[in-house]
Amino acid sequence: MNNSEDRAQSPEHRTQSTEHRIKTEEHITQSHALIRCDGIWKIYNEGKPNEVRALSEVSLSVERGKFVAIHGPSGSGKTTFISIIGSLERPSRGTITIDGKNIAGFSDAALSSLRRRRIGFVFQDYNLIPGLCAWENVSVPLIPEGIAKKQRKERAAGLLKTFGLDGRAEHPPEEMSGGERQRVAIARALVNGPDILILDEPTSNIDKESVSGLTDILNSLKAEGRTIIVSTHQETLSGNADVVYELTKGRITGHKDYNGPNL
Ligand SMILES: Nc1ncnc2c1ncn2[C@@H]1O[C@H](COP(=O)(O)OP(=O)(O)OP(=O)(O)O)[C@@H](O)[C@H]1O
Ligand SMILES: [Mg+2]
Repeated sequence: MNNSEDRAQSPEHRTQSTEHRIKTEEHITQSHALIRCDGIWKIYNEGKPNEVRALSEVSLSVERGKFVAIHGPSGSGKTTFISIIGSLERPSRGTITIDGKNIAGFSDAALSSLRRRRIGFVFQDYNLIPGLCAWENVSVPLIPEGIAKKQRKERAAGLLKTFGLDGRAEHPPEEMSGGERQRVAIARALVNGPDILILDEPTSNIDKESVSGLTDILNSLKAEGRTIIVSTHQETLSGNADVVYELTKGRITGHKDYNGPNL
């Protein structure tokens, strides 16, 4: 055995080189992944007779600027999972890192600040506030930021205009169509300038024409460099995604990476 073979076989050398490889892999992963989920479990009512294992050992990573679809049938855990990614829910076990920071140890206040700065969430039923007009709904996330009403209105009106809703700014959600409500909800999710936009089943309550409008909106948000994560049980939107994860009974059962922008 020559010297180099000898060194290569020494346990000390193997440990060092393994460590070096792991560090290099970590570095590569961290430099690309905006969000990393490792071994995520969500167990509702744990230890009780009505315990539900909504997610089991879910691991995935989301690269910055990508459009990622979480595709799966009803009850597969999509809402649970994207609520955890969006830091609206905490996992029972597992870690989530955003920009390399493990958010598991964040206090509730730190999580809510992360959400306000970085994450826009569009709920399946939009969660708009009845009785408040469109611009007021859009500007709600600006209130905790201490922004004056005039600026709030200007910023909300600007976004509504982008989404073709300038004529609807003074109308409450009750007076709007499903597609219009959805665009108000997207405008609200974007009002704080988040780099991550998460939408829960955005195609389930709108017609074909509105789906095509939504696809255009998501394309232009992606072109601005935002990272988009959608949950869907339909193929419609996952056909536009860079990466599709299949979720079945709380587990990732498939992963297609279309390798770069294919919008
Ligand atoms: N708060 C909760 N308490 C107990 N069980 C829950 C709770 N929320 C969800 N579940 C259960 O967890 C599982 C996953 O639910 P989830 O809402 O994440 O599925 P989904 O894929 O979003 O379904 P859908 O397509 O119908 O919206 C289901 O069995 C559901 O009944
Ligand atoms: Mg759901």
